[in-house]
Amino acid sequence: MGMDVDALRQETPGCANRVHLNNAGAGLLSRRTLEAMTGHLRLEAAVGGYEAAAQQAGKIEQTYAAVAELVGGRAAEVALFDNSTHAWNAAFYSLGFRPGDRILTGRSEYGSNVLAYLQVAQRHGVEVVVVPDDEWGQLDTVALAGMIDERTRLIGVSHIPTGGGLVNPVAEIGRLSRAAGVPFLLDATQSVGQLPLDVTEIGCDMLTGTGRKFLRGPRGIGFLWVRSETLHQLEPPVVDIESAVWDGARGFTWQPGAKRFESWEKSYSNVLGLNEAVRQALELGLDQIARRCAELGSRLRERLDALPGVGCYDLGRERCAIVTAKVDGLSAAEVAGALAAEQVNVSVTSPEASQFDTEHRGVHPLVRFSPHYYNTEAELDRTVDVVARAGDTIARGRRESSRCFSALCGMAPTNAWPACFRAPGFGSHSWTKIFVKFSGATGGGGCVVPG
Ligand SMILES: Cc1ncc(COP(=O)(O)O)c(C=O)c1O
Repeated sequence: MGMDVDALRQETPGCANRVHLNNAGAGLLSRRTLEAMTGHLRLEAAVGGYEAAAQQAGKIEQTYAAVAELVGGRAAEVALFDNSTHAWNAAFYSLGFRPGDRILTGRSEYGSNVLAYLQVAQRHGVEVVVVPDDEWGQLDTVALAGMIDERTRLIGVSHIPTGGGLVNPVAEIGRLSRAAGVPFLLDATQSVGQLPLDVTEIGCDMLTGTGRKFLRGPRGIGFLWVRSETLHQLEPPVVDIESAVWDGARGFTWQPGAKRFESWEKSYSNVLGLNEAVRQALELGLDQIARRCAELGSRLRERLDALPGVGCYDLGRERCAIVTAKVDGLSAAEVAGALAAEQVNVSVTSPEASQFDTEHRGVHPLVRFSPHYYNTEAELDRTVDVVARAGDTIARGRRESSRCFSALCGMAPTNAWPACFRAPGFGSHSWTKIFVKFSGATGGGGCVVPG
């Protein structure tokens, strides 16, 4: 059965207000997820937090099974965290590095993961090696095969990067890691909820994901899946009364399974929201979701690429719903501001967060569009129209703000941004705010200037 996009939009309150193309940031909650969360908060308020958790114990437990089903693992292999980064850190810092160890990663690795690599490099003399891309711009698995050696302690890869539509060839990376007996830590933060994931097919040892992005779950929750057979190689970096049992004397025993990575306190409203979001994705079917996401992504890419002065920068043989683009003569923040002024949510990629990619291509910041299955083709077309008009709209905004500032500061009006806007520390957020405030696109500008 096909996807009933209208019905899914009816069940997504945010669809009424905005064109939400920032699912790589945070997806829109469905009504049922919202109900699961607010219902639990109301229960906590009515009967007490611990008592509410006890009443919902069955459903809380089901969340582990739901996440396990989503990635093709077992419930005992799942641990919950407050975000994906902490889940990833729990796995990574469990490895125990020694001087001379090597970490192999890709150009599209997520910034926080790279910072952790750099920390163990500084602390333990580990070498961080960036595997080059192939001709498609995805991690080059032939090069990887030649780089794995007896010093390799970890292969760490982002399935989909934060700043582009690339889908890395993870099953081949997994095959190589298993053949070499090297642990493979997969950051699936941008792929979970967008693509089908099967840890057996992928062959990773550890996988991390977040609730809020393509899964459409709450903010403030993430998860780690760890293969049972890999557990003996890992020592969690921290311990608490959830992850271990104090044996009554001067020792402790780790909890069985992935529980040993968790801490005791959790937001159960988020846990129950995650449960609902994962179940909804499973009911819709990840194959169907992936198909629609890819279709919307390529439609948007094609239409943007067809605009004069606009280009898309997504790498990879396989591409997903993340679309990154640049408009000649405009900064990414200006384009994002023009879209925000028309109630279209997008975001902007950061050169600092993707430095391996930046060193290589130097294309960031880019405008990042990330539709989900509940977006319509008409919404994408409207977005493309706003981008096509962005140059004119921004020129109008510049003229307007220049007029305001010239009136305020006694400067001659100019079509360029006034010099004070180019002062150090005047960042892209300020540009966007000023643009939204003064642009005619807000419906009249924000400044009345005599004359
Ligand atoms: C590829 C990737 N990995 C990890 C993260 C971090 O996820 P979280 O913010 O849930 O810690 C992000 C967030 O954007 C991401 O895009």
